[in-house]
Amino acid sequence: MNVTRDIASTRAALAAARQAGRPIALVPTMGALHAGHRSLIEAARRDAGCVVVSIFVNPTQFGPRDDYVRYPHDESGDLKQCEEAGVDLVFFPPVEAMYEKDAVTKVNVGRLTETLCGPFRPGHFDGVTTVVNTLFNIVQPDVAYFGQKDAQQLAIIKRMVRDLRMPVRIVACPTVREPDGLAISSRNENLSDAQRRQAASLYGALCDAGDRIRGGERDAAVVTREMQRIITEAGPARVDYISVVDPETMQPVANVAAPVLVALAVHIGATRLIDNLRVDPGVRSP
Ligand code: PAF
Repeated sequence: MNVTRDIASTRAALAAARQAGRPIALVPTMGALHAGHRSLIEAARRDAGCVVVSIFVNPTQFGPRDDYVRYPHDESGDLKQCEEAGVDLVFFPPVEAMYEKDAVTKVNVGRLTETLCGPFRPGHFDGVTTVVNTLFNIVQPDVAYFGQKDAQQLAIIKRMVRDLRMPVRIVACPTVREPDGLAISSRNENLSDAQRRQAASLYGALCDAGDRIRGGERDAAVVTREMQRIITEAGPARVDYISVVDPETMQPVANVAAPVLVALAVHIGATRLIDNLRVDPGVRSP
């Protein structure tokens, strides 16, 4: 497995694969790899010739109150996992390789960034799209893999690729969950045992929403009110949002007439958790 830290050696290392006609697959990550990332790498391994994992904790997607300095780092553990997963190249750049000191350019995907997490994390999605754009320019992948757990991020990246005519195919991979349904995230480590048990209510609330919509409920307000009840009955929680939105535009939906994304962001203690479920009202519950 090759490990590169600068643009020139990354491009040089990938030139041979490109010349041999091996499609290049990129799995962008911020490290602290877990089962969710491993599922993206596995999907990439199944589909493509040359698998690249980028590991970069991107400062521009963290706000002043976010945990950039406390974000977990585990370089040797991450490299070991990549090696075991059969990754061909890990791109592990320092900040200077990714950003000019006086960089001013940002990529903004408009209205898609203004709902759900947008108002709670100003500038976050601009940071994500700018760094993903830079990674695409450095690696020049044929295909890139993102998790559905970050559904808004995924929708924004798909729209950026479409609008800017970027020659990369985006593959969405299913959320990996614990046995009780909690979506796997590096943030789960911060929960106490009691909070960890309470956190299962988030997936419980999403499943309730799915059942209600498939059972014929069309009023999004009724669906989100019930979700709020389930979550707050499970223990103390601060809800940023519980919303029903269009899965492509991320705009709120009041009456469910087509597939929707039910999405939430909830603080349990000091830990902010996000999750979502895509629900098709045309598929009736038994
Ligand atoms: O989802 C993430 O881990 C990050 O937002 C990404 C896509 C690697 C960009 O920094």
